[in-house]
Amino acid sequence: MTSIDDLISALPKAELHIHLEGSLEPEMVFVLADRNGIPLDYASVDVLQDAYSFSGLQDFLDIYYTGMRVLQTERDFYDLATAYFERAMQDNVRHAEVFFDPQAHTDRGVPLAEVVGGIVAAVKEAALAGLGVYLIPCFLRHLSGQDAMDSLVELEPFVEHFCGVGLDSSELGHPPSKFVAAFERARELGLKLVAHAGEEGPPEYVWEALDILHVDRIDHGNRALEDSALVERLRNHQVPLTVCPLSNLKLAVVDDLRFHPLKSMLDAGLVTTVNSDDPAYFGGYLNKNFREIANSLDLSVDEVITLAENSFTASFLPESEIQKHLEEIGRIRVNLSVSTSDL
Ligand code: ADE
Ligand code: ZN
Repeated sequence: MTSIDDLISALPKAELHIHLEGSLEPEMVFVLADRNGIPLDYASVDVLQDAYSFSGLQDFLDIYYTGMRVLQTERDFYDLATAYFERAMQDNVRHAEVFFDPQAHTDRGVPLAEVVGGIVAAVKEAALAGLGVYLIPCFLRHLSGQDAMDSLVELEPFVEHFCGVGLDSSELGHPPSKFVAAFERARELGLKLVAHAGEEGPPEYVWEALDILHVDRIDHGNRALEDSALVERLRNHQVPLTVCPLSNLKLAVVDDLRFHPLKSMLDAGLVTTVNSDDPAYFGGYLNKNFREIANSLDLSVDEVITLAENSFTASFLPESEIQKHLEEIGRIRVNLSVSTSDL
């Protein structure tokens, strides 16, 4: 083992914050547009990719929702999911908890059964190839609380395929409390609960996600660090944060990865994880997020290994499976200390 980069590649990891539609690569946008006869405003893959320069979350979301219009059929969702699963396995991802946005498709007239059918078929194949996948449909927070409820009712016949529900899209002006009824109902259905909070929104939104929605994890959570009582709460309850370094850079949540709060989160004793968010738009899949944040913050071998361990402890896997992954990481840790003590 020669470098942090090699270590990152060798470590088994879970990815807990990835939007399936955010893994729609520009090349696939063109393939699906052609297949489905959908006109695009961009002359080529390069021109489309040149548009991926964002001033903030909303600027990105406008392009993200436009791009996903090419997703029309069960086969499209199968192809999208299969491409992400294959790419994740190249990064030694063993388990992924994957978001998708049902309302962004059903509101365009795509039947939910096509969306779920395509994704679930790909999940079954991924399992045979060694990647475990849990699915988390998200409510779009720029829509109403009632829309979220209606979406949940539509999702209920497919509930066996989901491990939880999430909350994403435009954060500012859309506090978690808007969705208390849908989250309550999801909990009654036995689902885990997660919510994006503190990406652009204030610490109060993280408090609401914890105290009003009763989430099991916070997605992003960067701005929680502005409130010391909130940090204490997250630490005391070991509420995991799914942090997305390259996303934060591309969406101007941080100006430079050297100023990213991830090391402060680790130092504060928070269960911090690294994730890719929307890799097709933000310039990198999981290992690239690990590499760039480790190099920018000069993370130690020990901290990188802790991040890989956290990815499993923060997951919704059964405890026995978590232990299995932690033991494998533990063996890497021991081998590493043996080889460095030889030097
Ligand atoms: N949907 C896809 N990516 C997102 C992000 N980073 N924040 C909120 N909603 C999203
Ligand atoms: Zn996200």
